Amino acid sequence: MNKKALIEQRWSLIGIPRYALLVSIHCLVYWLAPQTAIAQGRERSGQEVVEAVCAACHRTGVDGAPRIGDPKAWAKLTSQGLTSLTDVALRGIKNMPPHGGNPDVTEVEIARAITNMVNQSGGNWTEPISKSAPPNERSGAEVVQMRCAMCHETGSGGAPKIGERAAWIPRLRQGFDALVRSAIKGHGSMPSRGGVVDTTDDELRAALTYLINGK
Ligand code: HEC
Ligand code: HEC
Repeated sequence: MNKKALIEQRWSLIGIPRYALLVSIHCLVYWLAPQTAIAQGRERSGQEVVEAVCAACHRTGVDGAPRIGDPKAWAKLTSQGLTSLTDVALRGIKNMPPHGGNPDVTEVEIARAITNMVNQSGGNWTEPISKSAPPNERSGAEVVQMRCAMCHETGSGGAPKIGERAAWIPRLRQGFDALVRSAIKGHGSMPSRGGVVDTTDDELRAALTYLINGK
C-alpha cells in the first residue's frame, strides 16, 4: 500500500472523514490570516529597519557599502535625493541586494532606513510617513493639546478660541478646506502647521475640527 492510501486508511480508522480534517485546517488558516496581517501592518521605524537589516553591511562598509557614520560616503549620495536612493535600494545595485535582501521590507520602511543612515552620517532629513497607513496618526484632540492649544486656548495674538463658534464662523466662510490650507501655510502670526513640521494634513484637518467644535 502506498503512503497516501495508508494515511487515508488511518484517518478513516479513527473515524474522522478526510474532508472534516481539511475544513478544520482551512478554519485555522483563516483564523491566522488576520493576525498576520496585523503583525505586518505595523510599519517599522528607520532605526528598527537599519538595526535589523541594513546595519549588517552598512555598519562595516563591506563590499563598498556606504558606511553609517561616514559623512563623506553619504554626501555624494544625498544629492540624488531620497526618492531616487529609495528606488536604487528597492531594485538593488551591484553587491547591494534588492530591499537589502529582505523582500518584506516595504518601500516606506526603506525610505525611513535610508533617512536614518543619512542622519547618522551628518545629514538632517525627515523620516517620511506612510501614505497608505500613517503610523500612530494623532487625533484632533491630541494635536490640539500638543500644540494648537498654546495659542488657541487663550486666544493669544488674536487666535480664534477653541469651541468659540462666533470667532470661527466668519473664517469658515472661505470654506473648511481653505482654512486647512491656511493652517498648512501659516496665517498672520500663526506659524505653518502650528509650528510642528511633522503634523500631517489629515492631522491638521482633525485638529481644526476640534478647534471649531471644542470636542
Ligand atoms: C548584503 C549587504 C547589504 C545590505 C544588507 C544592505 N546593503 Fe545597501 N549597499 C550595499 C552595498 C555593497 C552598497 C554599494 C553598492 C555599490 O557598489 O554601488 C550599498 C549601497 C546602498 C545605497 C546607495 C545606493 C546608490 O545609489 O549607490 C543605499 C541607499 C542603500 N545601500 C540602502 C540600504 C538599505 C536601506 C538597507 C536596509 C534595508 C541596505 N542598504 C542593506 C550592501 C548592503
Ligand atoms: C503660536 C501661536 C499659534 C499656534 C501654536 C497655533 N495657532 Fe492657529 N492661529 C494663531 C493666530 C494668532 C491666528 C489668527 C491669525 C490671523 O488671523 O492673523 C490663528 C489662526 C488660525 C486659523 C485661521 C486661519 C485663517 O485663515 O483664518 C486656523 C485654521 C488655525 N489657526 C489652526 C491652527 C491649528 C490647527 C493649530 C495646531 C496645529 C494652530 N492653529 C496652532 C496662533 C497659533
